[in-house]
Amino acid sequence: TPTVLRSVAELRAHVADWKAAGATVGVVPTMGALHDGHLSLARRARAACERVIVTIFVNPRQFNNPADLEKYPRTEEQDAALLAQVGVDAIFAPPPEEVYPRGFATTVSVTGVSEPLEGAHRPGHFDGVATVVAKLFGMTRADRAFFGEKDWQQLMVVQRLVADLNIPIAIEGCPTVREPDGLAMSSRNIRLSAEGRARAPALCRAMQAAAAAMRGGLPVPEGLAQARSEVLAAGFDTVDYLELRTADLLLPMERLEGEGRLLAAATLDGVRLIDNIPV
Ligand code: PAJ
Repeated sequence: TPTVLRSVAELRAHVADWKAAGATVGVVPTMGALHDGHLSLARRARAACERVIVTIFVNPRQFNNPADLEKYPRTEEQDAALLAQVGVDAIFAPPPEEVYPRGFATTVSVTGVSEPLEGAHRPGHFDGVATVVAKLFGMTRADRAFFGEKDWQQLMVVQRLVADLNIPIAIEGCPTVREPDGLAMSSRNIRLSAEGRARAPALCRAMQAAAAAMRGGLPVPEGLAQARSEVLAAGFDTVDYLELRTADLLLPMERLEGEGRLLAAATLDGVRLIDNIPV
């Protein structure tokens, strides 16, 4: 079973031993409530690195909505049992005051790629993500870090962060893990009612249909409008955005040329779901 570490000092001592023995170290940052999406990252790390740390920290700085932070599921015992099955070496699960002690005064803010989409709908969210991720990289001194494509914009923000701050870590993006009906796995899915859960796959289905139609020649604005109305017709309450963007810089894309990414956020049962696919 993995060692559970609560303090930065203990974490550093473990990593120092591993590095002295010449081991490569991988880190998988998470907020816990682990599902198969998270576990796929842990397995990738397990295969690629000699030592693997999974971090579990519900980062208060990235929640723009206090109620969302309050309601965020916490299932640490179950998480530890799942990570034992994957065979990770350590779990770093610090209390908030270990990460943000008295006097903490630094914010890491990535401009550009963090501004549209999630950035526009969740003020401060990516500052919180960039700050905690930069800290986790500094605390673990890992050689590689594993992030899910499920949070595509987050992956782009983290890549920008490590490039801009010369952080010596390789970022690996891992494919989105989905339920059999197509719904992207998310810790928030358990907050859906039975009826909401049944309707939820309409989001990825509408996105896939729009991507196919646009590849077949339907003008991009029409494809997006069609997908948006399908999502609303399926019973979603609101669509925060449903947009085609360039895959890496997330610039607006009016016609299909080069690598595009279709990204969406929509609310159902008061639960905000996000998804994205390549186009
Ligand atoms: P969390 O939402 O717990 O996600 C942790 C990692 O799991 C992220 O890299 C996310 O993209 C990935 N992930 C989530 N669902 C996935 C799925 N269905 N398929 C593949 N990967 C999936 O993202 C965060 O936490 C936080 O912002 C964090 C990076 C830990 C910083 O606090």
